Order: sequence, then structure tokens, then C-alpha cells
Amino acid sequence: MNCIRKLTDDLLWVGGNDRRLHLFENAYPLPDGISYNAYLLLDEKTALLDTVDRAVGDEFFENLNAGLQGRELDYVIINHMEPDHCGTLARLLLRYPDVTVVSNDKVFTMIHQFFGDEASIGNAVSVAEGSTLSLGRHQLTFVMAPMVHWPEVMVTYDQTTGALFSADAFGTFGALDGCLFADEVDFNGHWLDEMRRYYTNIVGKYGGPVQTLLKKAAGLKLQMICPLHGPIWREHMDWLVEKHQLWSAYTPEDEGVLVAYASIYGHTKNAAEVLARELTLAGAKKVRLYDVSETHPSYLVAEAFRSSRWVFLSATYNAGIFPAMETLLNDLKAHGLRNRKVALVENGSWAPAAGKLMKAVLESMKDIQMVEPMVSVRSALREEQLAQLTTLARELLS
Ligand code: FEO
Repeated sequence: MNCIRKLTDDLLWVGGNDRRLHLFENAYPLPDGISYNAYLLLDEKTALLDTVDRAVGDEFFENLNAGLQGRELDYVIINHMEPDHCGTLARLLLRYPDVTVVSNDKVFTMIHQFFGDEASIGNAVSVAEGSTLSLGRHQLTFVMAPMVHWPEVMVTYDQTTGALFSADAFGTFGALDGCLFADEVDFNGHWLDEMRRYYTNIVGKYGGPVQTLLKKAAGLKLQMICPLHGPIWREHMDWLVEKHQLWSAYTPEDEGVLVAYASIYGHTKNAAEVLARELTLAGAKKVRLYDVSETHPSYLVAEAFRSSRWVFLSATYNAGIFPAMETLLNDLKAHGLRNRKVALVENGSWAPAAGKLMKAVLESMKDIQMVEPMVSVRSALREEQLAQLTTLARELLS
């Protein structure tokens, strides 16, 4: 049976939820699954906004068929050509051969790249910044949003209702468990954490393009934000935009301290625990302590975006940084993170090298303020080094 939901009388959610995918993009854990949102507008003309991943293709086509209620599908609008949204496009074109595909030139190029002759487009309309499409009552405007994940991305604004179909922007990890709107769940807890993890890992590198889109969105009267993943927003949109404003500007969300350690036999962990205690005694209110071997880096990237200060403690391993810590630091650099105050602790039993190498990675990032001197541990923390950690904690918070 179909599982469509109405957003308004003539706008339907016809997407699907995947709770079996282990890694999104084969990289990011999905403990709560993910939704692939597709929207159907029923006007004098009918228009589908994006398709879905192949994994939920069957339920999507059942939803679409039910939503159309026997009508033809006149348009499919492609806002984003990544396969998690367009994996079912060729199948759609086979089922609805008379549909007109509406998108920009970059998308049409990618359709050919991904599908070749498999995607048979009968009718196509190429749009650019500010192009419009009338469905009857609904007047749609297309706004280009290059690199709000991929270069071909655009968003669609419904001038009639104020709905913004925002592609990956404003998305969230997590399947929709019966809910559709963000105000139908307790968003300000685990959902917020998963929205932050989604944004920072998937779109976080592209802060500049996101800022450009936010500026464009500021000129629109928004009544609803309809992303391609996660709940739809019809309330608290100022709060939502403000969160994305912070993340895209690489501005810390709070005065928290991320403490991440890589420990082989527990001695570096001990230094991390002692340092976390000293940070709290020195006045830090939000100390977040993680073992990089236990916690997937996507969670740590999200926590790094959130926190104003970082501490990294690493054992030396093969004359280098412990691998899980090296992965994390390279991930932070790859995501363009900047504007943070950072302290380091290294450990090594005969030739400690992790500190110098960690520092080199961090100093290659923008606007990173290092706290000096780093603390160097030989095998295990000694009582006489406590003063060094206390000083490091105070300097980091100053
Ligand atoms: Fe959800 Fe960039 O795809």
C-alpha cells in the first residue's frame, strides 16, 4: 500500500525511507536510516520534484502512482543529480515516457554520464537562474545553488505557496518514522545532532556556496522548506537558517571543548581523562571526550564544527600519528574547518613524534590558534606533569 503524506492539499510527499543502508555514500553510519524525499505537486499540470535512491524505488513508484490518481505526470524537476536522488530516473522515464524533464544544462550532461542511452528523455526544458515554470496556480522559480554539494545543484521556489524545495540543503540523517514535519518530533536533541552530522560531513566543505544560497534564500518569503533528506520545515525556520549560517561560516555553535584521544594501552586515555578534569575545574562547561578508535570520524567532525576549542592527544605509532587520529585530522582539514583554538598532547615511549606531525596538519588549516607548549608524555603520565596539563587547560580556555 502507498504511504504518501500530504504537505498541503495539492502537495504530496511520495519519497521513501531506507533503514537497511549501513553507510550513506558508503562512508557515513546511518544508525537511524535515511529518507529520500520526493514531492508531487498536483495543479493544472502535475510536477514531480526529484526522484529517489534505487533502494526505495518500489515504494516511491507506488506512492507516485497513488498520488497521481490516474493523471499524467507532466514534469519531473531535477534539483540534484546525485544517485541517492536520481537512481530511479531512468526507470521513471520508462514508466512516464511523455514527461518533460526540467533542469539545468549541467544536470542534462550528468543524466547522460550516469545513464547513457538507458535514460530516454522525450521532452526537456533547460532552465537557468530565475527561470520560471507555471503549473497553473503554482508559479515555480529556479535558483542555482552550485556546490551546495554538487556543481549542478539548483533549488526550486514556489512563489504561490512560499515552499522552497532545497535539495540537500537543510537535510537531516534519519528515516521518517511516521513523521513528516520537523515540528512533529522532538527535534532539539538527537535529530539536531544528526542534522549537524549530516550538514557538516556532507555539505560542510562547501561553506561559501551555502552562504551564497542563504543570501538568496533571505530574499524569499519562506513558508516551508522541503529538503531531500529528513523532516520538512514549516515552523522555526529562522532557527534552522541560523544554525546553517553558523556552520557554513565555520563559527562555533558553543564554547565547548572537543577532547579526542588515540590511545593504545590506556595511557594516552589517562592523560585525556586528567586533562578533561582540569578543563572542567578551570571552568569549561561542555567538555566532550571521545576515543577516536571507538567513535566514527563523522561524529567527531560534527563535534568539531560545534565546539570552539579542540584538544587532540595521540600516541605515536610507526613514527607517525596514530592512524585513527590522522584520519580525523585529515577529515577536519578536508572539510575546511577553521577558526578554532587547539591544544595538543603527544605520547611516545622512545621517540614521540605525533605532536609535531599533528601540529603540521593543524597549521595547514585556516585560522587555527595553537596553544603552546604542547605536552609530551613518555609512556605514562607522571604526577609531576599535572601542572603542565593544568596550564594547558587554562591556556586553552583563556
Ligand atoms: Fe542527498 Fe548530494 O545527495
